[in-house]
Amino acid sequence: MALNFGSDKKHALDAKYDAQKIAFAPVMFQAAMALRNLGILDLVKDSKAGITIEEVAEKLKLPVYGVKVLLEAGLSLEVVMAEDNKFYLTKTGWFILCDELTKVNMNFTQDVNYLGMFSLAESVKTGKPTGLKVFGDWATIYEGLSQLPAHVKKSWFAFDHFYSDYAFPEILPVVFRNHPKHIMDVGGNTGKFAIQCAEYDPGVKITILDLPGQLVMAEKNIKEAGFSERIDLYSIDLLDHSNPFPRGADIIWMSQFLDCFSQDDILALLNCSAEAMHENSALYILETYWDQQKYKASTYSLHAISLYFTNIANGCSQMYHTDDMRNLIAKSDLVLDEEIPDVGVSHTLFICKKK
Ligand SMILES: C[S@@+](CC[C@H](N)C(=O)[O-])C[C@H]1O[C@@H](n2cnc3c(N)ncnc32)[C@H](O)[C@@H]1O
Repeated sequence: MALNFGSDKKHALDAKYDAQKIAFAPVMFQAAMALRNLGILDLVKDSKAGITIEEVAEKLKLPVYGVKVLLEAGLSLEVVMAEDNKFYLTKTGWFILCDELTKVNMNFTQDVNYLGMFSLAESVKTGKPTGLKVFGDWATIYEGLSQLPAHVKKSWFAFDHFYSDYAFPEILPVVFRNHPKHIMDVGGNTGKFAIQCAEYDPGVKITILDLPGQLVMAEKNIKEAGFSERIDLYSIDLLDHSNPFPRGADIIWMSQFLDCFSQDDILALLNCSAEAMHENSALYILETYWDQQKYKASTYSLHAISLYFTNIANGCSQMYHTDDMRNLIAKSDLVLDEEIPDVGVSHTLFICKKK
């Protein structure tokens, strides 16, 4: 029976090569980590006239054997290239070594995801974040965030903040164009957005809603920034939809938040927002949608990040497609009033009003 490959025009030899990249991906990922973390890539980068395996081994006080297998793997990874037995850094190698986005993503994969991902298929079958048990006995990662091992916590926060750090300064003029007096930051985490709002407008008040563990971290940061008078904290489990949101904010802000919830929970959270809104309030949803990306690198990353939600974070959420969110908004007590694409690295802002 003839197979149907749809519109796939890939040559069979390329397809087979790509299949081997997948077959050895975890092994080759560890090779890239070792090349980076042992300082080998750094040394190759700084050796403008190229460097031999023996020279690398001697300078870094590593066995020649280990350096040899890593640098040879680096050839297939295309992070280094070789001429006359001398190794040079490639452009991909430069990104592994120097690009902040790549560093943040690699550390997140290694520290947060790597060990747990072995049970991904089990998570798919059960709808539970089975990989999370590597770190603790929690129903979601958010319950345990403040208790994660230091290096895991560092990589998680660096990952989370990297994306929002670019988006926040860019979007503040939009947030403040109607001069809101009170903003409610749902899932406000360590208080980064709230602090930036307080710095941006000396008149605004902010309320952060989050789990108690995150609010402890937020309280410390807010105190240090000197904004305890204008930023208050509201401890709430947002998975318990019988808990109403505090009422009356001019803007309800949800940044990189709804991707932490299943579609059923998102619908309930949208309706909780509508319930708490007055006639002139708006709900601002800042998300990274995989269909809105200009570059293959972003779409690829977002598809991978979805699997972190499946296996580690909660077992039921993902980086969504804009149609997923549009459909949920259409079913809710809200209407989508405005869409602002291309915010920060890869975000889209949806502004919703009450129906
Ligand atoms: C991915 S972080 C986003 C942080 C921040 N808004 C940003 O843009 O960087 C999601 C936040 O939602 C919070 N969150 C997740 N589940 C929650 C729940 N059930 N109740 C309250 N907050 C929750 C987490 O604690 C975390 O601070």
